[in-house]
Amino acid sequence: MTITKICCIGAGYVGGPTCSVIAMQCPHIKVTVVDISKHRIAQWNSDKLPIYEPGLDNIVKQRRNVNLFFSNDVENAIKEADLVFISVNTPTKTFGVGKGRAADLTHVENCARIIAQVSTSNKIIVEKSTVPVRAAESILKILSANHKPNVKFQVLSNPEFLSEGVAVENLLNADRVLIGHEETADGFWAFKELSKVYLNWIPEEKILRTNTWSSELTKLAANAFLAQRISSINSMATICEETGADISEVARGIGLDSRIGSKFLQASVGFGGSCFTKDLLNLVYICEHLNIMQVAMYWQQVLDMNDYQKSRFSNKIIESLFNTVTGKKITMFGFAFKKDTGDTRESPAIHVAKTLLDEGAKLNIYDPKVEHEQIQRDLTHPYVTENPEAVMKSIEIHNDPYYATINTHAIVICTEWDEFIELDYKQIYRGMIKPAFIFDGRKILNHDNLTKIGFQVHTIGRR
Ligand code: UDX
Ligand code: UDX
Ligand code: ADP
Repeated sequence: MTITKICCIGAGYVGGPTCSVIAMQCPHIKVTVVDISKHRIAQWNSDKLPIYEPGLDNIVKQRRNVNLFFSNDVENAIKEADLVFISVNTPTKTFGVGKGRAADLTHVENCARIIAQVSTSNKIIVEKSTVPVRAAESILKILSANHKPNVKFQVLSNPEFLSEGVAVENLLNADRVLIGHEETADGFWAFKELSKVYLNWIPEEKILRTNTWSSELTKLAANAFLAQRISSINSMATICEETGADISEVARGIGLDSRIGSKFLQASVGFGGSCFTKDLLNLVYICEHLNIMQVAMYWQQVLDMNDYQKSRFSNKIIESLFNTVTGKKITMFGFAFKKDTGDTRESPAIHVAKTLLDEGAKLNIYDPKVEHEQIQRDLTHPYVTENPEAVMKSIEIHNDPYYATINTHAIVICTEWDEFIELDYKQIYRGMIKPAFIFDGRKILNHDNLTKIGFQVHTIGRR
């Protein structure tokens, strides 16, 4: 079998960009991305894609309806495919055993059931969503128990390591492509077939072959290590603020040690995004389940440090504004969890906004890419408030950063958008209530210049 038809279940942040890049690099393969959401698919078929990713628009424009299709016809797409990617969401469970920690595999399980039900030919099933270790086994069990006679499945684990905002770049020049397979001849064959797809643009030495469980654990481990670096540097930032050390200087100093490396040492208001918190919670839950409590506690601390960092930053704003923000107007620059994305999942901005709203502040919020409705949904969510009407009255969402600062007491930077660096802060200062404050939660501005203009500047990791 040579793979000529791929189906991807789940048209989200992972499935959409991944399949767009596969379609671009493999013109001989027909790629169909399916989703149960009619709205999502309509967006993928429109001029305004459901997600913002630099470079993605162009690829979709080139390949859509050529060899890249977006559809709600899940069953037919599965039926005709040689290979099926499962890239549905695996959120943290909100109920039952493992609530708030374990991964909710309902969507993955639903995929396995529908694949078993509609398949009339052999298929390679590829788990792309981040899942707990041994999830592939569950998928295989569902497939084996429900399949039609003469239909065989191989399940591979092929976790996605793309980072939002640079997804296209990551997919085109991946550090590695990890494929885990069952340790049998058929498993090896399935690995070979999936490799052939990637070999259209990924050098062979970057394709890493492991057993299924190693592959699944590697994804959780990679995210845990990355998150740990941020919590580690943020913990050092706390020490800097209490002493006279400067976290930027410390980060440079440790980053030059080639064993440590310079990336991912940016102290911040805290990490967000759909993966780090979810995967760490999941890892901790797995450790507890395996009864290795010391390991569970070790990784839990990475999460606790992140919560501490978000709270510390929010509290610093309140303290600096003379211990009260009640009735004060505060500008928030940035709401996404990082720059170059419109995604707000687990964004530290939500935590900061909640703390300020709880204290009675009014917020003017500006983000270049996050949809207004998304900000409203996030801040009126039951996790954030019991009184959504009051929140709606306390927030204004702006389209212009300058306008958002007029008559406010402070600017709080929650996302490191490049455009915030270029703003005319002299003009902004003139329109603000004095003393005018800037809280730079991303350490992106020139603090000496701001101080010269007259701002009271507070940042992370520096006294
Ligand atoms: C360390 C620092 O590396 C060095 O920069 C500092 O100046 C002094 O402390 P050293 O203790 O001599 O140097 O050796 P190092 O290679 O860092 O190893 C320390 C311990 O960690 C050893 O027991 C080593 O076996 C262990 N180790 C190291 C591991 O178990 N795994 C590793 O991947 C690396
Ligand atoms: C992450 C992993 O990087 C990626 O490999 C995995 O597939 C999915 O999860 P993503 O969440 O998209 O990707 O973004 P990432 O760049 O890792 O940033 C996560 C969070 O950490 C952001 O809130 C970011 O602002 C923060 N961060 C990152 C820091 O605070 N400091 C840093 O030095 C790096
Ligand atoms: P990720 O960041 O992991 O890509 P997203 O939430 O962005 O997560 O995307 C997951 C997508 O999977 C959503 O658009 C959701 O509608 C879709 N989905 C979930 N379950 C199913 C299913 N059983 N069949 C088809 N699509 C599904």
